[in-house]
Amino acid sequence: MSTTYKQIKTIQEFIGAIRLRVDVFIKEQQCAPGWEPDEEDKVSEHFIALVDRKIVGTARVRRPNPEEIKIERMAIDKGFRGKGVGDGLLRYVIKQTMRSKPKRIWMQAQTHAQAFYEKCGFHAVSKPYDLYGIEHVDMELMVLDKK
Ligand SMILES: CC(C)(COP(=O)(O)OP(=O)(O)OC[C@H]1O[C@@H](n2cnc3c(N)ncnc32)[C@H](O)[C@@H]1OP(=O)(O)O)[C@@H](O)C(=O)NCCC(=O)NCCS
Repeated sequence: MSTTYKQIKTIQEFIGAIRLRVDVFIKEQQCAPGWEPDEEDKVSEHFIALVDRKIVGTARVRRPNPEEIKIERMAIDKGFRGKGVGDGLLRYVIKQTMRSKPKRIWMQAQTHAQAFYEKCGFHAVSKPYDLYGIEHVDMELMVLDKK
């Protein structure tokens, strides 16, 4: 399986990413229908993973301030999970965002996926808490130079 990763450039790619997020977060995880897409999409960078031109993964990046990166809405097509796509996409997103030399890269991770994010270098920095009816934990990337 050959997987490619890229930042979204076209409206068609954006629509494809939102379709996947609706499938995963609204249909599969039963989040509120108004949750996808949201206003933050207008000010976010969007990334996708493709297999044979099919969008099989997505994630978005927000910059609450110039020194901070927040990774959100990471979703892999159900039929493509457990094949390394999420790992590849997350590493690609981190590599791209590191170019701006952020002081902090973090996320609000669903606790069921905590071990997945730990494999990419994140660690928990909060206790678990409820968000939209799903247990989350704040996680931060360890490898950053905080000086
Ligand atoms: C969580 C998610 C993004 C992982 O993507 P994926 O493509 O299935 O993950 P990968 O195949 O790249 O897995 C990479 C590694 O993490 C591990 N891993 C993946 N999901 C895991 C999980 N839920 N719990 C524990 N380990 C997990 C894999 O076993 C693999 O380990 P290995 O390298 O030792 O083999 C995907 O399951 C998903 O989209 N879930 C639904 C949406 C969701 O919950 N998103 C998270 C929002 S915070």
